[in-house]
Amino acid sequence: MRVLGIESSCDETACAIVELIEDTAQNGAAFGEAVPPLWVRADVVASQIELHNRWGGIVPEIAARHHIKNVLPTLDSALQQAGIQLGDIEGIAVTRGPGLVGALLVAVQVGKALAFARGLPLIGVNHLEGHLLAAYLCETEGQKRPPLPHLALLVSGGHTALVHVRGLGDYSVLGSTSDDAAGEAFDKVGKILGLGYPAGPHIDRLAEHGNPSAFRFPRAMTGRKRGLQLSFSGLKTAAAMLLAHRPTPQGHELADFCASFQAAIVEQLQRKTALALDQLGPGIGAVVVSGGVACNRGLRASLANLCRERGIDFFAAKPRWCADNAAMIAAAGALRLRRGERSDEFLNATATLPLSA
Ligand code: KG4
Ligand code: ZN
Repeated sequence: MRVLGIESSCDETACAIVELIEDTAQNGAAFGEAVPPLWVRADVVASQIELHNRWGGIVPEIAARHHIKNVLPTLDSALQQAGIQLGDIEGIAVTRGPGLVGALLVAVQVGKALAFARGLPLIGVNHLEGHLLAAYLCETEGQKRPPLPHLALLVSGGHTALVHVRGLGDYSVLGSTSDDAAGEAFDKVGKILGLGYPAGPHIDRLAEHGNPSAFRFPRAMTGRKRGLQLSFSGLKTAAAMLLAHRPTPQGHELADFCASFQAAIVEQLQRKTALALDQLGPGIGAVVVSGGVACNRGLRASLANLCRERGIDFFAAKPRWCADNAAMIAAAGALRLRRGERSDEFLNATATLPLSA
């Protein structure tokens, strides 16, 4: 089944074509519900980062207008990349939320129009479910897919959560942030440092050559009493206060600041992941990290290390599928369409949408 995915929840207009191929060997069946291979045939992202950079964050009105401008050219590029025609598409998946409503509406309306005009099945996808399933996207033969059940750490610009993933749509959020998302902390502190938007990748790059012990930052919520609750606003405030009382670090000192700040975020995420594994007990064969912050090399290394110590597998989607993209939306949509689920012409965009909805 060839599914077209369209994503426009924030500042990326993305179209992708994913082909779900039934796995006759049922490799995944040993792990519970089988997730068949989801081959990425085309994956196009038109980023608006440059446009929003000058405002230091996303301007919803600008985002929506540029999605309208970019969506059809992006769709054309995806068809061209896959070497197919619109008539070869067998299903359409669009992000229905969470996100900016004006932005989301572009994918929702284009998806509905195409589905109606072509008589194709349509499915509205939860953006967060897309992130959770990104590690299942295939590009190379024999690629290992995450087993079920597993523990997922979803870390993006808007969300930070530990999720027990048992199967498609069968998720329990074990803990989430009580204030800012991890990506938000990276972006806000990066903005004060003058690093541009989004600042996560800049901090990651600078941290590579810095000393993570040079600056002291609080390790929030790390007491076991706090359970799986996460928090990043205290850390963000601590960094902002420090910067308010001294000149903005430059050169080596900037690298040290970034390394120390990143280490505080990574340590909290790593400790909570370890605690979630303790709580879930045996039977969890893997940790899967996803969302934009999952591109962070310090975080990937720290989680890989944790999994090695615990003797379990570690999966992280390719960096381009950790950030917002439409391949993950097409993948989630393909799995739901395969189960017979459909959205109708009343499908609407929703700003806040829990993972279970
Ligand atoms: O998943 P995503 O593309 O969009 C949302 O759904 O939010 O995540 C974007 C977030 C931004 O906050 C960005 O700074 C962060 O992911 N990010 C990173 C890195 N790459 C992207 N944070 C830390 N290190 C990175 N390498
Ligand atoms: Zn996202």
